[in-house]
Amino acid sequence: MTLPFLLSKQLKKPNGFFGLLVSLLMNIINKPMYAKALNLLTFNEDESVLEIGIGNGKILKSITKKVPKGLVTGIDISPTMLFFAKCYNIRLIRKKKIQILKKDIENLNFENETFDKIISLNTIYFWKNPTKILEQLYQVLKPNGQILLAFNSKREMIKSGYNSEIFTFWEVEEVEILLKSHHFTIVNSIYEQLKFEDCYCVIAQKNT
Ligand SMILES: C[S@@+](CC[C@H](N)C(=O)[O-])C[C@H]1O[C@@H](n2cnc3c(N)ncnc32)[C@H](O)[C@@H]1O
Repeated sequence: MTLPFLLSKQLKKPNGFFGLLVSLLMNIINKPMYAKALNLLTFNEDESVLEIGIGNGKILKSITKKVPKGLVTGIDISPTMLFFAKCYNIRLIRKKKIQILKKDIENLNFENETFDKIISLNTIYFWKNPTKILEQLYQVLKPNGQILLAFNSKREMIKSGYNSEIFTFWEVEEVEILLKSHHFTIVNSIYEQLKFEDCYCVIAQKNT
């Protein structure tokens, strides 16, 4: 197994000690992307926010600052990431500001109209069934709720040598069309070259 293949697998589902190291690297590389994404959204203090694919969950604390009277739910499929995310956020979990759950984006199983905002950074590359996912995301969003998807450009991913058997590379237009075809309205779509990588952020709203 080559190192790029191993790294791509770990990015998809970080596992064990190497997975922890990869997640710490993601914390550094993806910090500007998170800052950009969170600044693009306007939060009310009591909102309910879902983050999908939290990695080691280090960013959840900064989301709680945006919704001090709300609840932040973080989900992931990796037991290693869930373990560290729970450790990092133990205090806020006890205060019921954060809940961390093992869930697959392909099978969300939340009550309809639960969340005001849904964010997911660097996970769209791994979506097996985008239609099923977007139908569920639409259902669990409240009316006028917003979803933010952030990801690297196809060009950057190819240049960086990500494995195309593990990652699906997306053009921003494809993401926008996908969202629109699932009844979302695009409210913002930006591209920015950040410190370590480039970034698309697409924000879409649930039509009522
Ligand atoms: C590339 S990492 C991104 C982590 C973090 N969002 C970031 O940008 O730094 C992808 C994360 O999504 C999780 N993930 C992958 N497929 C998933 C799925 N089907 N459902 C939920 N989480 C998933 C992985 O376990 C991993 O923690």
